Amino acid sequence: MSTNTNANKNKNVHVIDHPLIRHKLTLLRNKSTSTNEFRDLLREVSLLMGYEVLRDLPTEEVEIETPLEKTKGYQLSGKKLCLISILRAGNGFLDGLLELVPSARVGHIGLYRDPDTLVPVEYYLKFPEDMASRQAIIVDPMLATGNSAVAAVDRVKDQDVTDIKFLCLLAAPEGIKTLLEAHPDIHVYTAAVDRELNDHGYILPGVGDAGDRIFGTK
Ligand code: URA
Repeated sequence: MSTNTNANKNKNVHVIDHPLIRHKLTLLRNKSTSTNEFRDLLREVSLLMGYEVLRDLPTEEVEIETPLEKTKGYQLSGKKLCLISILRAGNGFLDGLLELVPSARVGHIGLYRDPDTLVPVEYYLKFPEDMASRQAIIVDPMLATGNSAVAAVDRVKDQDVTDIKFLCLLAAPEGIKTLLEAHPDIHVYTAAVDRELNDHGYILPGVGDAGDRIFGTK
């Protein structure tokens, strides 16, 4: 029904289709799901997806003492993480990921799509310091045309960041193609690759307008 197998085969596209995520994604797709439920479900999905997206975070050995003896354990090390939210829907992913990595820094990129051309227009940009030494995970629930994603990766690369992932709930084949043609080094993590875009740049079958569904607008 809603998956696109060609896009799934690209080695840079990681479809995280754990049964819990598939279940929650189906609830998110349902137009009867309320704003409140949608936000909660998106947070839960971001926790589950975060487990995979953060799988290669570097760790280092540390010595600790349990109540019984000394032992070796592990702690996160290396590059500090920066989450970059593409406003406004990207914020729906932040709470869950920050629960997993409370020390992560957060940047924001404000982009809106010109409704006629679907070209992204930047209206806000704020990044933490020392971006070049950080791993960046750009979050936006919808990878649709890919134009905003390309613009966001451009901005992050302007900061000399070399380790960049793109995390979304749904991706359209068109968006994956556009993003990976512009930035072949990026890895995309998504819960599903949907069928196609409609004439207004919405993902089909999709979830509708993610921002509106998160914030209860429109
Ligand atoms: N943005 C959305 O919120 N939904 C889509 O389907 C595409 C872009």
